Parts: sequence; structure tokens; C-alpha cells
Amino acid sequence: MGFLGIPPKKILIHMKKHILRNSSFLRSIAAAGMTALLASCGPKGGGAPGADSTAAAGAPSVDRGKYLVTAAGCNDCHTPWKMGPQGPGPDMSRMLSGHPAEMKIDAPAMLQPPWMAAGSMTMTAWSGPWGVSFTANLTPDSATGLGAWSLATFDSAIRTGKHMGNGRPILPPMPWPGLRQMTDDDLASVYMFLRSIPAISNKVPDPIMPGTTMPPGMGAPGGPPMPPGAIPPPPDPRKKK
Ligand code: HEC
Repeated sequence: MGFLGIPPKKILIHMKKHILRNSSFLRSIAAAGMTALLASCGPKGGGAPGADSTAAAGAPSVDRGKYLVTAAGCNDCHTPWKMGPQGPGPDMSRMLSGHPAEMKIDAPAMLQPPWMAAGSMTMTAWSGPWGVSFTANLTPDSATGLGAWSLATFDSAIRTGKHMGNGRPILPPMPWPGLRQMTDDDLASVYMFLRSIPAISNKVPDPIMPGTTMPPGMGAPGGPPMPPGAIPPPPDPRKKK
């Protein structure tokens, strides 16, 4: 039958061409660093699957790092969000610069059960039983970003979940337990990409530690007892029955 007398096979070929054209269009948007923004604006903006898959193979490279950073959603937390015409999304003019210094936060979010955690309007400050964490500046700025970090420092931070590989535990919601599964080449590519982006001077504050004990299962060591008025961690579901 077909549509308006056009045989279905022709329609299919036309659609395929359209999708192909579309994916190179998406790639050029990605070049402007916008893929993450589209991806975060809803399922329809997710981009053609595998559009950058050529970057997924071979030796470590900036392109591959960009592909991984985009796919792993680093922008969702490390790029401050702002309101746009399509709703809130990462402000790519401040790409990966972390929690904005001018947005002062000095207390955790007030939450009631069943709520456990909250994110700031910028998606860069996170309040939960761990206190308040602020996403790091991942740009190559030497004073406030990763400028002084070697690949070894970066690699061991992600692999150990310790600040710079040997300090305090890296707090939620930084997904290092998942990111540590990347291969050496993948992490090196991510590092290379992060070195290649514009340096932005932005001093991210230190986390606020409430002295709460971590809820079980979150992978962090237990801390000192809860201070008065702090939000208690949720009960351990494993202890119920
Ligand atoms: C769900 C939110 C979230 C996502 C997604 C995320 N991060 Fe983070 N990241 C954080 C938070 C919060 C911190 C600050 C943690 C702290 O201060 O302990 C952080 C800290 C870091 C640090 C500093 C670690 C240190 O040693 O102090 C690096 C490096 C980092 N992230 C890299 C990345 C990269 C690369 C990606 C993507 C592949 C990524 N993050 C994705 C939330 C996120």
C-alpha cells in the first residue's frame, strides 16, 4: 500500500537517510558541548544512540573522553544548572566548573521522612545524611580546578573513592563506585578531555560535615553520633525481618 502512493520500502529508505542526517546534526551540536543539555531535557533529546561510537574504541583520546563524560552524565552534577526556555538544564558556558562559589550554602536541607536527600537549584550542592557536598571544579584551572592534578591523582581518586586518592572519603552522590569500573584507557581519556576544556576559576567550598552516621549500604564509614536536631538516617531494611 504505502503512503500517498509511495511504496513502504521507499519511505523506509527516506526515514533512514533522515535519521542519518539527523545524527550528524546531533554530532555537530555535541561539538558545541550541548549533548548533555539535550540529554538532560528528556528522553526525546537523548541523541542518536552510538552517534559518537567511533570515539569509543582505540587508544585514549580527547574525543573518547568527551564521549564518556557526556554518556556518564558528569555535566548533570558538575555543571551548574540554570533555567532555560525548555526548563532547567546545565549551563554549558560554565561547563564542569562545579558548585558556583557565589551560591552560599551553610546548612543542610530540611527534610522529613521519607525524604533523604536534596539537590540545590544548580544541581551542584547535595544535602543528605553525609552533610552537604559540593561538586568539584573539573576544569583545568590550576588554583580551583584539576589543573594541578596528575593523571595518577585523578585515577586514584576515582578508583579509591578518597579525595585525591588518599584523603577523606569522596561523598555522595559522586558515583565513583560505578566510574571506577572504567578501564585505564577510559579514565585516561576522561582525564585528557577534562584537560582540554576551558579553565574556569571557581573555588568550590569544602563539604559541610554534620557528624551524622552514614545510612547503611551507602559505602561510607560510620561517623560520630548524630548531633541534636540532625535528620536521622533511614532504618536499615536488612535488619527488619
Ligand atoms: C550525581 C552527581 C555526580 C555525577 C554524575 C558526577 N559527579 Fe563527580 N562529584 C560529585 C560530588 C557531589 C562531588 C564532591 C564530593 C566530595 O566533596 O566529597 C564530586 C567530586 C568529583 C571529583 C573530585 C574527587 C576528589 O578527589 O575530591 C572528581 C574528580 C569528579 N567528581 C569527577 C567526576 C567525573 C569525571 C564524572 C563523570 C564521569 C562525575 N564526577 C560525575 C557528584 C557527581
